[in-house]
Amino acid sequence: MRKITTALVAGFAVSVALSSAALAEGRTIGVSWSNFQEERWKTDEAAMQTQIEADGNTYISADAQSSAAKQLTDVEALIAQGADALIILAQDASAIGPAVEKAVAEGIPVVGYDRLIENPNAFYLTFDNKEVGRMQARAVYEAQPEGNYAFIKGSSADPNADFLFSGQMEVLQEAIDSGKIKNVGEAYTDGWLPANAQKNMEQILTSNNNEVDAVVASNDGTAGGAIAALEAQGMAGSVPVSGQDGDHAALNRIAKGTQTVSVWKDARELGKAAAQIADQLAAGTAMDEVEGATAWSDGPNGVEMNAIFLKPVPITRDNLDVVIDAGWVSKDVVCQGVEPGSAEVCG
Ligand code: GAL
Repeated sequence: MRKITTALVAGFAVSVALSSAALAEGRTIGVSWSNFQEERWKTDEAAMQTQIEADGNTYISADAQSSAAKQLTDVEALIAQGADALIILAQDASAIGPAVEKAVAEGIPVVGYDRLIENPNAFYLTFDNKEVGRMQARAVYEAQPEGNYAFIKGSSADPNADFLFSGQMEVLQEAIDSGKIKNVGEAYTDGWLPANAQKNMEQILTSNNNEVDAVVASNDGTAGGAIAALEAQGMAGSVPVSGQDGDHAALNRIAKGTQTVSVWKDARELGKAAAQIADQLAAGTAMDEVEGATAWSDGPNGVEMNAIFLKPVPITRDNLDVVIDAGWVSKDVVCQGVEPGSAEVCG
């Protein structure tokens, strides 16, 4: 009798041990978001969380609400909650430094998500941002190969702003040097806020007596601000404007003709890849052994990092079907209020 009880108890103990071992296998992935200001970040988040859970891991997160200071305490809190790996979308590339150092010191791998965190111990996962800038400039240049250009840049605290601008300049430099194109104003957009972009555009318009022929705006939010400023002067639709992100409102503006291009970065792919990389790093895979990783050192300080760059796709009136077919946006949304005959995809 006693023997049977012991065996039963032992059996029970084994099954408890097994299930806690199974639980212990799942890792905790901590994700620190800068904010959810742009539409895309909720898409990034959904894809990331889905993949994290599909891998048997747990998603925990924090939203810094555009505060670089809050993001520091957010990362500490994620570490305290037991994060085995961190994915960080930095609000401010330099302010985030100490939080990343702390994680590294504790042996917690860090993925710099979309925006560069220039630390050799962080993995860098993003789209090719210089190429995004080139694509923006190419599309605007094709529509307006001469005249006065305005540049609505991104947030100066986000290294992407300068990557984008340098890509734009690569494409336009020759035309600028030859005098075909003139840079009549460029400004960073604090916090990537559309309202700040609008103010910057208003100032550029005022100081040039509205003689602006093209606007290279660095994302769809800033494009929206710039287009509002153009609209107030009756210039929307006649001045080409670029953007980035495939925001639904921007894709609709492209169909309507007030925006020329949005460089689409499939945030679902980026979110999924981040989840997979974080899982591998937490499992002990070396950064240079992550599949697809390349050595890269083109950041402002030339730090050698392991990185993966996904490919962006420029979307203009001629290929709006690409984002619709990819299930990124519905045709109804793209074509809302579009006059018949103006965009092929809308009929
Ligand atoms: C950039 C990002 C863009 C855009 C912008 C504003 O770093 O690459 O896709 O969303 O931030 O948040």
